[in-house]
Amino acid sequence: MSQLSSRHLLGIKDISPEDIQLIFETADNFKDVLNRPIKKVPSLRDITIANIFFENSTRTKLSFELAEKRLSADVVNFSSSNSSVKKGETLIDTVNNILSMKVDMVVMRHSSPGAPHFLSRNIKANIVNAGDGTHEHPTQALLDAFSIREKLGDVAGKKVAIIGDILHSRVALSNIFCLQKLGAEVMVCGPVTLLPKYIDTLGVKVEHDVQKALEWCDVANILRIQLERQQIKYFPSLREYSLYYGVNRKMLDRLNKEIVIMHPGPINRGVELNSDVADSEHSIILHQVENGVAVRMAVLYLLAGVK
Ligand code: CP
Repeated sequence: MSQLSSRHLLGIKDISPEDIQLIFETADNFKDVLNRPIKKVPSLRDITIANIFFENSTRTKLSFELAEKRLSADVVNFSSSNSSVKKGETLIDTVNNILSMKVDMVVMRHSSPGAPHFLSRNIKANIVNAGDGTHEHPTQALLDAFSIREKLGDVAGKKVAIIGDILHSRVALSNIFCLQKLGAEVMVCGPVTLLPKYIDTLGVKVEHDVQKALEWCDVANILRIQLERQQIKYFPSLREYSLYYGVNRKMLDRLNKEIVIMHPGPINRGVELNSDVADSEHSIILHQVENGVAVRMAVLYLLAGVK
């Protein structure tokens, strides 16, 4: 297989294990390119990509922009906070105006679940979902699984615990789909108020004791408490959350085994993850960020080739 099965990347739910393997093999090649003195290839020289961000981002936005520039694409960036969206312009009008300037691909982050799916039905360009509300964040899941594969040799057969605010996390849902498609076992762990009601339908183990989750898993992916999406109180205080659900060095020292610690960022240090773990030899957090560029290069390159 040398081509993706879809011209958009809207979510991991919609793509096949073969698509994921093709993205990983392509990302391996681009990772080699990124380790060379000249980190640029001409693959997307005739392609123009618009990065359209309606929500804040550091890693995803910079990573996509760097991936596009390493592929020699022309790049335009749009941020809703200083745009005509503030004057009432709709999503479709905004994107159609950008596309009329001869843009081929759109990378979009939006706070509404389904916004990129809606866009894909109404415009001609390839769409990449860079995070839609609490729904999916497909390239984050791909770079997370790629990082596990790099660290442990394979994803199949590994036990991955996703710990924290599962309810508000698009990273959790995309990771569950991606890890399961690649043959990993998945556990979610957090307070019952921060697990979605439909969790039983996802085929994951559920645990509420973080120490037990750490004992079970090969990899712990710790998620941020997303206060900006919480309209009501899901736990009494951040201090109490940290006390019962935060991961600290003492918990790792009690384990009699190797463990890999991941976090998609941004980290609330001292809340879901202490610095003595985030910055420890167990952590591959900055490798995740590094791998994000190669994985996003692979996604953009492959999507541009889908007829
Ligand atoms: N992991 C992630 O999506 O980070 P940003 O919100 O900074 O892009």
